[in-house]
Amino acid sequence: MRITAFNGSPKAERGNTNVMVEAFLAGAREAGAEIENVFLSRKKIGPCKACNACWMKTPGRCAQRDDMDELLEKFAASDVVVFATPVYVDNVTGLMKNFMDRLIPIADAHWEKDENGECRHVRRHDKPAKIAVISNCGFPQQSHFQVLRLLFRRLSRNIHAEVIAEIYREAGALLSAPAPDLQSLVSNYREVLRKAGREVVEHSRLSAATAAELERPLLPSGNFVDEYMKLVNQRCDDILKKLDA
Ligand SMILES: Cc1cc2nc3c(=O)[nH]c(=O)nc-3n(C[C@H](O)[C@H](O)[C@H](O)COP(=O)(O)O)c2cc1C
Repeated sequence: MRITAFNGSPKAERGNTNVMVEAFLAGAREAGAEIENVFLSRKKIGPCKACNACWMKTPGRCAQRDDMDELLEKFAASDVVVFATPVYVDNVTGLMKNFMDRLIPIADAHWEKDENGECRHVRRHDKPAKIAVISNCGFPQQSHFQVLRLLFRRLSRNIHAEVIAEIYREAGALLSAPAPDLQSLVSNYREVLRKAGREVVEHSRLSAATAAELERPLLPSGNFVDEYMKLVNQRCDDILKKLDA
């Protein structure tokens, strides 16, 4: 099984998203998958020009020659594609959206109806049959992933793939925070991510237990949101005061 992660964080290797992706892919590799971690910020990807060449003039091939040539090949050769992105303004990052727009050559120009009677494009490739989503956001609540949850369900319908795992981490800054008392909590979380990677390879889905573990708050406190907000606001004040001085 081939699993390719496409990471839309501008911070690439240094990002909180990558903390999650690396652990997930490590688990997938342990279970026997061939894995690759692609950083979109390292690639040259122009915006879609809506010229329709990939549907009409040269079906399946974009008119632009840039790194999407290589990425489309990887995309259509993967059994599972991982869309990895931080939340930016309640959505995916611009890097990820640009990549998503440029996936259009994987679809045939013709339309069909899905099982619910909703229109979509006919598929051109058998792969990827499955997608996983990995994201983190700054705010400390799962509600900030509402748009992504819907977006990737819509995308999977469009590309005829099944969403087999959604992994969303709120308060993502904690993943790279240097505080020593956090290290063991983050390393426990990484272990759950590894387990998720293994399960996706072995069972093509996440178990209910692992999905629940992945959504457990990193810091077990009844008052976490208020405490975290206070801490962040204090930190903002400290930084602003220092810059003022
Ligand atoms: C331009 C920008 C917009 C952001 N918008 C949101 C947002 O709408 N909601 C949220 O919870 N966090 C938001 N964040 C915070 C990021 O999701 C958070 O810092 C995340 O950990 C970044 O992941 P990365 O380190 O992988 O890039 C935003 C950050 C930036 C730079």
